[in-house]
Amino acid sequence: MTTNFEELLEAFRAFLQFQGTSMARDTAASIDWAMPVRPLEPKTAPCIRHLDRIGDIVPESAQPLVRSLAGNREALCWGQTYTKEDFGLDFLDNYGWVEVFGTRGHFANDEVAGGFLILGPETVYPDHHHEAEEIYIPLTDGTGWRKGEGAFQVRRATELIHHPSNINHAMKTGVEPLLALYLWRGGPLAAKSTITGGMA
Ligand SMILES: [Fe+2]
Repeated sequence: MTTNFEELLEAFRAFLQFQGTSMARDTAASIDWAMPVRPLEPKTAPCIRHLDRIGDIVPESAQPLVRSLAGNREALCWGQTYTKEDFGLDFLDNYGWVEVFGTRGHFANDEVAGGFLILGPETVYPDHHHEAEEIYIPLTDGTGWRKGEGAFQVRRATELIHHPSNINHAMKTGVEPLLALYLWRGGPLAAKSTITGGMA
């Protein structure tokens, strides 16, 4: 196993810089990328098994980033905010995130957090909200995203999704897994989301 977190951080920055939306590019420009390394023990999660399929279906523009993520998967510290009491065991088997940088990530940053979320196929991440403002860029096609009281809208890979502070949002995958890049800023960056009714 080759561990190269610097390469992963650089691929993350490069991916954002070349996005079509100004929000992604402006965010990339606003981040101080000279971040100190934070040594973290590796922690695995069952959802990383989906990275092989994800690697086959991401668009070309995301391939360097996803190759780096997949290459480092065993060395990264994967997290799960919820327990089986929240959404059940099947959810935990298909859900996980890794914070590349932030207040608890592999690189230290107190202003903004960035990382990846994985959801397995046919998985619902029920309504939740949090104080931090959030940007998601899905790297796979076919996931339904809901914001506020709206319906699920299927979003394409590389389409930017913005969740303002404290707005409810939910995701629902189809036949393929979801890999999404996320950015959090302007709130407690390690706060647990508040679940809105639903499956808890
Ligand atoms: Fe969120």
